This record gives sequence, structure tokens and C-alpha cells, in this order.
Amino acid sequence: MEATVVEHALAQHHLSIVRDRQTSPPQFRHSLEQLSMLVACEATKDLELHEVRVHTPLTTAVTRRLARSIGLVPILRAGIVMVEPVLNLIPEAEVWHLGLYRDEATARPVPYYNKLPAGSPVDIALVLDPMLATGGSACMALESKQAWGARQTVLISVIAAPEGIDRVHLQFPDTPVYTCAIDGELNDDKFIVPGLGDAGDRVFNTM
Ligand code: PRP
Repeated sequence: MEATVVEHALAQHHLSIVRDRQTSPPQFRHSLEQLSMLVACEATKDLELHEVRVHTPLTTAVTRRLARSIGLVPILRAGIVMVEPVLNLIPEAEVWHLGLYRDEATARPVPYYNKLPAGSPVDIALVLDPMLATGGSACMALESKQAWGARQTVLISVIAAPEGIDRVHLQFPDTPVYTCAIDGELNDDKFIVPGLGDAGDRVFNTM
């Protein structure tokens, strides 16, 4: 399965802003939020719907609403910035935070917060993390989600490296991956190049 890349002109515009090292944290957050909304629109465009008859001010109309329960699983810290824009699209979604940081020496994810409930899964879990580098964090999140038991998962990122996409697809072939850009490579420190640096630090102004 290929990753789906959002080609929207506004995605290109906001990608240019988040890649720019001179972009301030407030501008960075704002553009990352717009990118999150654009990629979430694409990732959710085929969500299952069911018919609902409503009374308009004039008559009745057969309309369609979301048929499945949705859970957002933001990976801390950088995934936090994606929550609000996706909640604006799906206000009824549950939000389950997952704390992972990447060990600087090994580039492996270290879990530090996980309150995913056992036994009350949503139908569809949207895992949110702007960066998909080695794929270690995404795979650990998807493993947690699997233990949680959501029927379907979707991984929503903003910038991805081919290595990370391949790793996710190898371990979770049924999980579609959405992103706004697939960059060329990872450097020796496992950072995406050209990338945008450390998303968490730029979002929260902790450089
Ligand atoms: C970054 C990023 C992803 C992860 C991607 O987080 O936000 O969560 O690394 O790398 P991977 O695909 O190789 O696992 P980081 O560990 O820097 O934590 P932070 O969000 O708290 O800054």
C-alpha cells in the first residue's frame, strides 16, 4: 500500500512555512494546524455514513452522518498540535493521548504515558503525529492501539520518510498512511531531511 500524499496548493504553501528555519513558533503552530486539517480531510473523506432524516425549516430531508465512532490518538508531544484542527472537523471524537519520546542515542521510542482503555474501543482510531521518521513511534502507537482493539486504524502525519512508511506498512499492512510530503531520507541522527527539524521543539518553543 502506498502512502497518500496531499497535493493541495495550500498544503504546499504551509509546508514551505513549516520547513523555513526562520518561522517563529506561533507561525509554525498555525501552519502545522492548517496542514493537519488538510491531511485529515483527505484521510477521512471516505468514512462510512448512514442516512438520517432531518426536518429543515421548510420540509424533511434525507441526510447522511458519520456511522462510526472515531478516536484520535495524538502522540505527545508534537501530535498535540494536530488535535484541535481534527476535532474541529470531528467534534464528537474521543481523544486518547499517548506519550512517546525518541531516545536521542538509539532513536528508539520510549513510552511514558498511555491511558488507552481496555475493552471500550472506538471503531476507527486516527493516530496523529506530524513526523514519521524511522516509524518506530508510529509502530509503537499502533501496537498500543491494537491492544486497545479499535477495528480500523489510520496514520495521519505531515512529513514522512520512505523508511518510516515502509516500516509501518510492513508491520501494519492494513493501516493507511496519509501525509503532506514524503522527504528523501533520514540523516545519521535519524532526522528527516530536508524535513522541518524537531516538530515538538518548534511547536512548544523549547529549542
Ligand atoms: C518526534 C516526532 C515523532 C517521532 C518520529 O518526536 O514528533 O513522534 O519523533 O520519529 P520516529 O518515526 O523515528 O519514531 P520526539 O521523540 O522528538 O518527541 P517530542 O514530540 O516530544 O519532541
